[in-house]
Amino acid sequence: MTNLILRPAGETNSSQIHELIHLVGINPTGLDWKRFIIAVNDGDEVIACGQIKPHGEEVRELASIAVRPEYRGQGLARRIIESLLADAERPLYLMCRSHMGPLYEKFGFRTLAYEAMPRYFKRITKLAGLADVLMRSGDSLLVMKLE
Ligand SMILES: CC(C)(COP(=O)(O)OP(=O)(O)OC[C@H]1O[C@@H](n2cnc3c(N)ncnc32)[C@H](O)[C@@H]1OP(=O)(O)O)[C@@H](O)C(=O)NCCC(=O)NCCS
Repeated sequence: MTNLILRPAGETNSSQIHELIHLVGINPTGLDWKRFIIAVNDGDEVIACGQIKPHGEEVRELASIAVRPEYRGQGLARRIIESLLADAERPLYLMCRSHMGPLYEKFGFRTLAYEAMPRYFKRITKLAGLADVLMRSGDSLLVMKLE
């Protein structure tokens, strides 16, 4: 793990970022490579990534946190998150499935009540709530905030 390099993405990494996001099955929109931090292996393959995604002037989202399955459980997501948090303005928001909440609590994020959410997240939460009902998924969507 120590020989893995963490760095800002370049344009040549864009397609691998898209592939990784599709592989792990999280939100595939807003994947501008210029915002991404990546980890690459010795073969210069993207094995982990994350970004801070803006929604207008005021709202910033920690997003696209993904690690290739064979590299999980070694602290790679933690390194990506810490690196993004080190440079990001506050407050910072994120959206995740409820079973992921404990991961983000480790970094100081707290779950927001619906009334306290910025408008962008209210809209997504409503849509996700509808999808949960339709798909009968037992896992709800959390919106979390880091002050
Ligand atoms: C979630 C994911 C990014 C974790 O990557 P990882 O490199 O294995 O995570 P790390 O090894 O850095 O673990 C960081 C911390 O999170 C915890 N953690 C990891 N996966 C977790 C999970 N699924 N649920 C709760 N906590 C978790 C670890 O215990 C660890 O805690 P510690 O540092 O106190 O020991 C990875 O499993 C993944 O890509 N999943 C699919 C995509 C996804 O769900 N992304 C998050 C979208 S909100």
